[in-house]
Amino acid sequence: MKKVIWFIALLLLFYADGIFAQSISFNWAGDSLLPVGVYYYPEHWPRQQWSRDIQRIRELGFSFIHIGEFAWAQLEPEEGRFDFTWLDSCILEAEKHGLKVILCTPTPTPPAWLTVRYPEMLLVDENGIQQQHGSRLHINPTHPIFLKYAERIVKALARRYGNNRTVIGWQIDNEPHLGTLYDYSETAQRGFRQWLKEKYQNEISRLNSAWGTAFWSQSYNNFDQIQIPNARRAPQGVNPHALLDFRRYTADALASFIRFQSVILRQYISSWQWITTNYAYYKFLPSVDLFRNQGDLDFASHTMYLLSTYLDDAGGELGFRLGSGLELAFSSEFARSIAGFTGIMELQPGQINWGKYNAQPLPGAVRMWLWHSFALGDRFICTYRYRQPLFGSEQTHKGIMELDGMTLSRGGNEFVQTIAEIHDIARFARREAPWPVDLKSRKTAFLWKQDNLWEQEASKHNQEWDSWRHVYHYYAALKSMGAPVTFIQEQDDYNVQEFPFLVAPAYSMVNASVIYKWQRYVKDGGHLILSCRSGQKDNHGHFHATLLGEPLWELIGARILDNDQLPSDRHGTVDFNGQHFKWRTWGEWLVPDAETEVLAQYADQFYAGTPAAVRRDYGAGSVTYIGVHSTDGKLEQAMLQSIFEQAGAKVLKLPDYVFVEWHDGLWVGVNYSSQAAVLPIPESANLITGEKIIPPGGVTIWSVD
Ligand code: GAL
Repeated sequence: MKKVIWFIALLLLFYADGIFAQSISFNWAGDSLLPVGVYYYPEHWPRQQWSRDIQRIRELGFSFIHIGEFAWAQLEPEEGRFDFTWLDSCILEAEKHGLKVILCTPTPTPPAWLTVRYPEMLLVDENGIQQQHGSRLHINPTHPIFLKYAERIVKALARRYGNNRTVIGWQIDNEPHLGTLYDYSETAQRGFRQWLKEKYQNEISRLNSAWGTAFWSQSYNNFDQIQIPNARRAPQGVNPHALLDFRRYTADALASFIRFQSVILRQYISSWQWITTNYAYYKFLPSVDLFRNQGDLDFASHTMYLLSTYLDDAGGELGFRLGSGLELAFSSEFARSIAGFTGIMELQPGQINWGKYNAQPLPGAVRMWLWHSFALGDRFICTYRYRQPLFGSEQTHKGIMELDGMTLSRGGNEFVQTIAEIHDIARFARREAPWPVDLKSRKTAFLWKQDNLWEQEASKHNQEWDSWRHVYHYYAALKSMGAPVTFIQEQDDYNVQEFPFLVAPAYSMVNASVIYKWQRYVKDGGHLILSCRSGQKDNHGHFHATLLGEPLWELIGARILDNDQLPSDRHGTVDFNGQHFKWRTWGEWLVPDAETEVLAQYADQFYAGTPAAVRRDYGAGSVTYIGVHSTDGKLEQAMLQSIFEQAGAKVLKLPDYVFVEWHDGLWVGVNYSSQAAVLPIPESANLITGEKIIPPGGVTIWSVD
């Protein structure tokens, strides 16, 4: 009998959906549908307050604390002298009060004894200025001496807490990126040369040809002559292919640092402890490519400050207080795509300190962000931070607690209320609920190749071209239909059964193999959507020696003649289904084959009547090519809706900045716009909370049997 039970248990283990995700359970906080935690910095507070704080954190309904990422100086106050006693007692306090701990490696902020002794590990910016001690994101994480010390502290931590039952997982470093800097230090120069040697098999002629160095007498005799391209020192322009390689090198260097730590941790920590890192603002920190660490982490977590003034919001009267729901969605779906699930590591509880201005969230906004995160499938939420600090650069950053450490802030109250709501609503959730058929019909894979974004940024052709904006036009269009989006990479399977739609905007660099995969996908019944700039270049960023985009012509059923661009104070018009849309930055002229359908054409300029977008059936599927980038994304939205519907998908037609997601058997609608909106709730639905007419900042949850 025992044997049979074992056998059944094993079978269940193997066939459980998302086995990895299951083994790393986030249900450590009892049955919580969505555990919520806080960043806590014991090193900022008198020791006699720790117990009080931690007990309170638990009483308020939080399930875990996140500690340690900036505490190297407290953990190793002098070279080789470690002090874990304080961390021991903090973790013990957590245990005592039934909280779990996410423990972080403290590598973002090396202590003064290290950086002062070895200043060569500090970054050097494009102006040749070496960064100074006391900041963060100021270290070259590939510097061998830095790595030696990083290894020692990470090992020491892993040995000490790798079996600690209170510690559920590890965060490596913090938001790995280089801020807005690239490193031009000697370490980076050497690292780049070494990377190039490996890439070009130590043959300078290969590099010369990949970089097209015949241009402007750039040819190199050997790798030692190579310098990191620095536009500051070359105002006439740097070699775009060299720049592309430098972006690749930087992303590899950062990824190698995460891998370096992950390998150390794995040697010492228990199998039930997971490893992640918290990626942030992919758009602004382009040196990072999450996919490069796909094999190194159990999952990628993400951080998002929705009221950041860098991000878009819905505008209107309230947009700046409600924040960017689109960015939250993108951040979550992107991070989830790395390993199948994610959690949000930092979600602001209120005003932040680092925007151009720092607005207060609208009452209810914090609650909406929490529910939106749940809806997007985040498996946990952690807020930055529990207590507002009394000192330091982030003094004015709100926490769950006000300055006295005892009084709940406005956002703190919303967190506490929402945690209680989550607890309450958990009884309606069904983890194993099958995907609703309509939802499945609009599942979309978004083909992601970070190199394409780097390539276009290095060779914009139009200064107003923004490769991220272009991607966002498509992503926003998908979300306006309520489509669940998974980001995949070129080498992945393009599975038609799972993803009836595949979107690959501005997919500039292609080779024969990706085109072949696209052909197979559409022949098998998939619907592929490509957009302008696609297919023009090879993987070095050279134009193909064909007519413009010719490698794609057969697939898209049209020729691409050329492109036009307009001055910033003008716009051109595109006609789609009798509606007019504006464009300015990029518009291609298409010449369709006989059997290809013209979707849209230019309505003015000297080429009025020329097709701007085309669609054709191909095998059992279809290919659409949208050769124009519209100014506000509305054209892309209208086209995607029509393509999805024509292909038989059931789509939602959501107002701007209203989002609807399905998770754990629950439908959740949130409204980031300044107007009330009507949600697509069927008559038969069971309304759990909120209303069908959702106000700005509102949350509505329903289920359908
Ligand atoms: C994040 C960062 C945190 C903290 C926070 C403040 O980007 O990871 O350490 O600085 O911003 O909003």
